[in-house]
Amino acid sequence: MKKILVTGGLGYIGSHTVVELQEAGYEVVVIDNLDNSSLEIKNRIEKISGCTLEVIVSDINNEDVLDEVFETYRFDGVIHFAAYKAVGESVENPIKYYRNNIGGLIQILAAMQKHEVSNLIFSSSCTVYGVAKELPVTENTPIQLAESPYGTTKIMGEELIQDFIQYQSIKAVLLRYFNPVGAHPSALIGELPNGVPSNLVPYITQTAAGIREQLTVHGNDYNTEDGSCIRDYIHVVDLAKAHVKALAYAETMKDKVEVFNVGTGNGTSVLEIIRAFEQQCNLKLNYRIGPRREGDVEQIFADTTKIKKALKWEADYGIEEMMYHAWMWQKNIPT
Ligand code: NAD
Ligand code: WQD
Repeated sequence: MKKILVTGGLGYIGSHTVVELQEAGYEVVVIDNLDNSSLEIKNRIEKISGCTLEVIVSDINNEDVLDEVFETYRFDGVIHFAAYKAVGESVENPIKYYRNNIGGLIQILAAMQKHEVSNLIFSSSCTVYGVAKELPVTENTPIQLAESPYGTTKIMGEELIQDFIQYQSIKAVLLRYFNPVGAHPSALIGELPNGVPSNLVPYITQTAAGIREQLTVHGNDYNTEDGSCIRDYIHVVDLAKAHVKALAYAETMKDKVEVFNVGTGNGTSVLEIIRAFEQQCNLKLNYRIGPRREGDVEQIFADTTKIKKALKWEADYGIEEMMYHAWMWQKNIPT
């Protein structure tokens, strides 16, 4: 049985990935400091997969713990999710982001080197493309100057990995996620937003649940069909499955590093998302049109040719299931 370390494995994308890994027959060890998660998620993962899950509650920046964990388990690969992800907070507190996202990655790379672990999957983001000059974006679309310290940590993270592994026997797959949404169909795991959500789908579900009064659509005067912004929303379970494929791919790939866009390839507007939510959940959402949000990209969606071909992966779920599962999860969030 192959052993995989999943950092941040009790978080939103991590928890769904752990389920898929266990279901695919991997032995999984999670390290998570519970900064944006809880131990209850371990029980829920176990309930879905029917497998027990080893969880080490620790910060990845604790070198001694990391060393001991790597020594004990002798991993075949690492999937590195642990990081902070709030764009706005990163503008207010960049050092916090550099420290955790870059510092944490350095700890992981150092441990992989020391303990001779050869496969790394890294969580990158479509944020590296900034305002792309061409659509859809391919993996060769130029990376732009980051628009937030969070974005900087993803660009630097990619660069750091590419630089470091040149001199090591480590191979890395960098996955650039588009907009992950939805939840596990069991409604046992999903996203746990911290405070007032800044992301669209948690804001929608919290509004429908009466936690927020009204959703504001950030602008309907963009140069798109209905005037609202366009994104490539990807169901978190599809995204999780891409990690399982990426891991298998890393073991056999010829190059030391590969980059993949992980999206559906379809662009969906904010107003289309709202309509899909209302239809799927049979609800009327209280929303208004507001001004544009500073820093928003008008539209971005992925060219998925590369991942389809190399990883033989493509998204199964559509917007309808993304909305329905997000709503089922919202109604089932542990309090
Ligand atoms: P999340 O906050 O739900 O999960 C991150 C997990 O890492 C949490 O459980 C948290 O407790 C843990 N963690 C954070 N710092 C840690 C540390 N120093 N030591 C140990 N554990 C730590 O976030 P997510 O949405 O699951 O995102 C996972 C990764 O994917 C992140 O790297 C994020 O930047 C990236 N990503 C997320 C999105 C998105 O929209 N959710 C999009 C693109 C990329
Ligand atoms: C989606 C659309 C908003 C909230 C962010 C990060 C990105 C990546 C994914 C990590 C936009 C609109 C939103 C609301 C709205 N994360 N919106 N009203 O901005 O595409 O990407 O999350 O890597 O780096 O920047 O996602 O969900 O915030 O917004 O109208 O209350 O919904 O303007 O068009 P975004 P989002």
